Amino acid sequence: MKTNVAVFFGGRSVEHEISIISAVQAMGNIDREKYNVIPVYMSKQSVFYSGEKLCDIETFKKGAPDKDGYPVTFVPKGNKTVMVNLSGGLFKKKDTPIDVCFPIVHGTNCEDGSIQGYIETLGLPYVGCDVMSSALGMDKVLFKNVLLDRGIPTLRCIDFGARDWALNSDEIEKRLISEIGFPLIVKPANLGSSVGISKVDDETELRSAIDTACSFADRVLVEHAVSNLREINCSVLGDRNDCKASALEEPVAHDKILSYDDKYRSNAGKSGSKGMASLSRKLPADLPSNKQEEIQKIAVETFKAIGASGVVRIDFLLDGDDNDKVYVNEINTIPGSLSFYLWEATGMKYTELLDRLISLAFKRERERENTMFTIDTNILNESSFGQKGSKGKI
Ligand SMILES: Nc1ncnc2c1ncn2[C@@H]1O[C@H](COP(=O)(O)OP(=O)(O)O)[C@@H](O)[C@H]1O
Ligand SMILES: [Mg+2]
Repeated sequence: MKTNVAVFFGGRSVEHEISIISAVQAMGNIDREKYNVIPVYMSKQSVFYSGEKLCDIETFKKGAPDKDGYPVTFVPKGNKTVMVNLSGGLFKKKDTPIDVCFPIVHGTNCEDGSIQGYIETLGLPYVGCDVMSSALGMDKVLFKNVLLDRGIPTLRCIDFGARDWALNSDEIEKRLISEIGFPLIVKPANLGSSVGISKVDDETELRSAIDTACSFADRVLVEHAVSNLREINCSVLGDRNDCKASALEEPVAHDKILSYDDKYRSNAGKSGSKGMASLSRKLPADLPSNKQEEIQKIAVETFKAIGASGVVRIDFLLDGDDNDKVYVNEINTIPGSLSFYLWEATGMKYTELLDRLISLAFKRERERENTMFTIDTNILNESSFGQKGSKGKI
């Protein structure tokens, strides 16, 4: 019997299109001898669609996923959770039982624990980080706090809310200048793909950079900008008990900040559908072996610190003015292209990576089966609260 894998992608996120690319790549590489792939495309309005044609990038280029697919929802039925076709009529398909979910989504409302929480309530196993580690990975400030708490190197930051900024901008500006100084970087606390990020070299640019970041998020962070910068990325695969780091890559930026275009548009070829796999990069990164080992060790510590699972990518900043001092910049809990190219460079084919990820989902499910989630009690009948008022202990 083949395993039914529901691949969730798209979603209400600015990285909707990137998710389509990552998911189509993955669906094209899953071992079809072992797995039935069930695409679950989530529109920007959060309507879920399924159908064979949603495995094909052409469907999305045509812009017709709602016509080429049919609307679905998920409901528990007996001891299974099934996907139900919501379109009526002659061609209405039978319910499809789901064995495991595979979220391949990027950005807020999706990668931040939202989809993971939805799948949890369905009671299905799923690939990748759980709700808490996904949420921690998405919030750059909370993520830094966890790392600092564990002594893992990351740049300290000052964070504040958009409302704070509107009310106390003079005070905040003074604090940023005295505690961080220039150059500095302003970032929305919970976005990706370089959206809303600016490097600021002096006071004249500071206010407009913060205004820009505030237009994208209700919380902003500011940190020292590394001037003589090298960026190195490393993937980690496994779970908190057993994980390993991949080969390292050095992405090549075309501007002072690695932009959305650098990440997803440049070099993408005519098809424009290669995602992160098409970024200009040095792979493996040209670094002395002791520096590589240091980065891989910190990558594993970071993965464990947030309790991650599956495949993640951890991005580092190296400060060339301080002996290439290593800082963790951020974690991507569902990295673009699932970082398959880093694992290929480590000797693992994409199909095997996907197989391992699905196995990890079942492993976590087995571990969870030992945890009790419901307690059978008769509390509603036993306690005497009700129409006459509560006399119970609640
Ligand atoms: N402290 C910093 N110093 C110098 N450059 C930085 C710093 N933080 C970020 N950058 C640049 O900005 C880019 C985007 O920032 P990042 O924190 O990775 O946000 P995103 O989640 O949008 O990818 C980085 O890839 C890097 O080029
Ligand atoms: Mg980044």
